[in-house]
Amino acid sequence: MKETEELLKQIEQDIKNNLTPKRYEHSIRVMKRAEELAKKYNVDVKKAKIVGLAHDIAKDMSKEQKLAYVEENQIETDEIERINIELLHGKIGADICKKRYDFPDDMQKAILYHTLGNPNMDELAKIIFIADKTEEDRTYVDFEKLKEAEKNGLNSLMIYVLDMSIKYTIYKGKIIHPDSIYTRNYFLIHNTDI
Ligand SMILES: [Fe+2]
Ligand SMILES: [Fe+2]
Repeated sequence: MKETEELLKQIEQDIKNNLTPKRYEHSIRVMKRAEELAKKYNVDVKKAKIVGLAHDIAKDMSKEQKLAYVEENQIETDEIERINIELLHGKIGADICKKRYDFPDDMQKAILYHTLGNPNMDELAKIIFIADKTEEDRTYVDFEKLKEAEKNGLNSLMIYVLDMSIKYTIYKGKIIHPDSIYTRNYFLIHNTDI
């Protein structure tokens, strides 16, 4: 992997070319939020910034492009991902970042898990997941509750964010991917924060 500053510049250029201006701005805010959380919880700040910036790199590919990408790169998909093709942007983004920027395993996993969550998430993956859902422009965040969870730690934040995103998925009438349920249950059972 390249030096941090050089890599950040390269990714910024790539997402500028591949994402809508709105999504590009979101990526910048997630990078900043990930940096803030990494500092607070003693996680590698450089990695958090790079992954925060790159996490949605595949998001604005068309459905056809996403399906072609998983086919060509032999990425396994499940039934729900084939119905809600949007969900594939984590898997595709992780694969792109591995091949294009030589991301190590932990950074790939943070992108892979950023949409649905996963019980095997490490601290970096948790930070990206939380940063993505709580960047300053997210209107549905209850910032009072968020502050409370932040005091307790990353696992409490995971539960707060999963509750919020599962409720939002129900509100929109969409299918809930079981990975989000498994992840929420995992953190409720294994919450070591308090
Ligand atoms: Fe995303
Ligand atoms: Fe995102």
